[in-house]
Amino acid sequence: MSMSGKRIILGITGGIAAYKAAMLLRLLKKENCDVTAVMTKAAENFITPLTMQALSGKPVLRDMFSAVADNGIVHISAAAQTDLVVIAPATANTIAKIRAGIADNLLTSIVLATEAPIVIAPAMNRVMWENSATQDNIKTLRGRGFLISGPASGFQACGDTGAGRMSEPEDILKDIRSILSGDASAPKNPGKLSGIKAVITAGPTIEPLDPVRYLSNRSSGKMGYAIARAAADMGAQVTLISGPVSLEPPPGVSLIPAETALEMRDAVMNSIPGADVFIGTAAVADYRAKEISPVKIKKSVHGGEISLLLTENPDILSLVGHSPERPRIVAGFAAETGNLEAYALKKLTAKNADVIFGNDVSDKTIGFNSDENEITVFTGKGKPVRLPRASKKDLGNAVVSFIADMLQ
Ligand code: C5P
Repeated sequence: MSMSGKRIILGITGGIAAYKAAMLLRLLKKENCDVTAVMTKAAENFITPLTMQALSGKPVLRDMFSAVADNGIVHISAAAQTDLVVIAPATANTIAKIRAGIADNLLTSIVLATEAPIVIAPAMNRVMWENSATQDNIKTLRGRGFLISGPASGFQACGDTGAGRMSEPEDILKDIRSILSGDASAPKNPGKLSGIKAVITAGPTIEPLDPVRYLSNRSSGKMGYAIARAAADMGAQVTLISGPVSLEPPPGVSLIPAETALEMRDAVMNSIPGADVFIGTAAVADYRAKEISPVKIKKSVHGGEISLLLTENPDILSLVGHSPERPRIVAGFAAETGNLEAYALKKLTAKNADVIFGNDVSDKTIGFNSDENEITVFTGKGKPVRLPRASKKDLGNAVVSFIADMLQ
């Protein structure tokens, strides 16, 4: 969708990520957007108004009480004449002010005065992001329909590592585009899962045989990551426990990497106390080597044949389903090559799950590794519900919406 001519207010607050705002401004200008930068006083400690003026080709708005501009009521005119407001970086302080409706500078006044959609890209230290005050503010803003873009996880300027880094400008641009185009993959029902804690597993597990070899499967993690993203977009606090995949964790999600089924089980069991929802999308290996060889298994020693003794892995979904800490909703997946309904209903009972999302992996165009999927939902009550073929991203939204309805 073309964003050409869209009027965008780019708010910049006082965080080290302010330098990335210059890159976001460049990307918006490349899309031919009409960008007005609005900077707080604190932002000027990190990037100069001159830089933003040069990049936007317009004076930067900084002063709430400019007598020359718009008869001194610049916040009202700017707020009315914009298609979208994006704040990047948004500090914990500015986020808290917006939640409270405080309008003590030009940017927060514009936010209060505008009817345009607002995108917030938080940027702060990991501990500040995880603080329940910030999390509560974010949940509330999501519930009010703000789009929270990020934050990403990784290395932070303060030396910490974790969630709180501002999203990359390209990712913020994607979120801006999705709002302006009203596209189908834009976050659905923001705030529908506010206050809900969700634990999601995704990807394969790998089960070592020796220091270099392992048993695994073809799971790409795409479905689980799409579900995690959809749940976070709807306001849930998401812990994603993931086997090794080559995907970026969705913004705002806490990622716990796990390699083996046993590691995944431990991470899940530590995470479910207090969780409202568990969704097991991981393709957990059913078996692992009974003993892992400490040295590389040599062909010269074993000759033409080799036997591997395997032992069964714990069934994580079943452990969660039968746990005294069982979340209110326990959901699993069934990837089958036939008899989908019979197997799904069996899993529902055996694993004490509330819902099984089934897909037929004999169809090569869906399921493992593909970008599309087709799901039938089994709850054991009434007729199965079909979620027709769609991108995994859209199905992630549909799966999470289904679970959100079950929570009502
Ligand atoms: O029994 P089956 O492997 O077909 O069940 C699939 C469902 O059970 C998926 O939701 C998967 O994440 C979960 N599962 C699990 N632990 C296992 C095997 C499967 O959590 N060891």
